[in-house]
Amino acid sequence: MFSIRPYQQNDYQAVYDICLLTGNSGKGAAHLYDDPMLLGHLYAGPYIKMEPETAFILDNGQQPCGYILGAQDSESFNQKMQKEWLPQLKCEYKEPTSEENKWTKDEQIIHQIYHPETPKDFPEYPSHLHIDLLPIAQGQGLGNKMMDHFMAYLKTNKSMGVHLGLGIENERAFYFYKKYGMIELERDDDSIYMGLKL
Ligand SMILES: CC(C)(COP(=O)(O)OP(=O)(O)OC[C@H]1O[C@@H](n2cnc3c(N)ncnc32)[C@H](O)[C@@H]1OP(=O)(O)O)[C@@H](O)C(=O)NCCC(=O)NCCS
Repeated sequence: MFSIRPYQQNDYQAVYDICLLTGNSGKGAAHLYDDPMLLGHLYAGPYIKMEPETAFILDNGQQPCGYILGAQDSESFNQKMQKEWLPQLKCEYKEPTSEENKWTKDEQIIHQIYHPETPKDFPEYPSHLHIDLLPIAQGQGLGNKMMDHFMAYLKTNKSMGVHLGLGIENERAFYFYKKYGMIELERDDDSIYMGLKL
């Protein structure tokens, strides 16, 4: 009953919701944020707005239950993020002025809008992706199908490789990607970066 289809404009809110419902190392993050759109503004919005053709929806016939989205060329995506996406968020959100150790989760995200981390550069893996499935779609092999669909799209567009980052606490995702054939490229205190040649 599940199918994978291209993203459509009216999926916008559902994609933001899925981002929030899976945004705490794979678990729900709604209780962590006052503003339910903030997480999506960093991790979902720029993709569906700026590269909608690189976004795919897992649909159960009634509603979106997951997505896989990303960028064919991370370098040009990151430039567009700086020039087009973040400036409009800066108009909407004021930079936090209190001390860093007093920031709420919302303020931590807003800080990233003003001071984004330098994106990782993996020249052999120029594309990147994010995949998130709601609990009703997890554990049934659908993650693999979404990955296959996305890899086929990237290959058609002649990408030579794809990378992704995941929270260090997201053990399930780590083993899922590893089983899919991705290799670990780098890790730090918070994140693991993995890649796959296409
Ligand atoms: C992570 C996610 C994409 C995986 O998709 P999925 O379809 O649920 O995948 P599954 O959990 O069924 O696992 C797929 C494979 O990984 C293996 N795997 C999963 N967790 C594992 C673990 N902790 N240890 C070892 N192997 C594991 C499974 O055994 C399975 O292999 P099999 O099909 O040969 O049995 C999906 O669960 C999800 O979206 N989770 C919430 C959001 C998230 O964490 N996204 C990733 C952010 S980086």
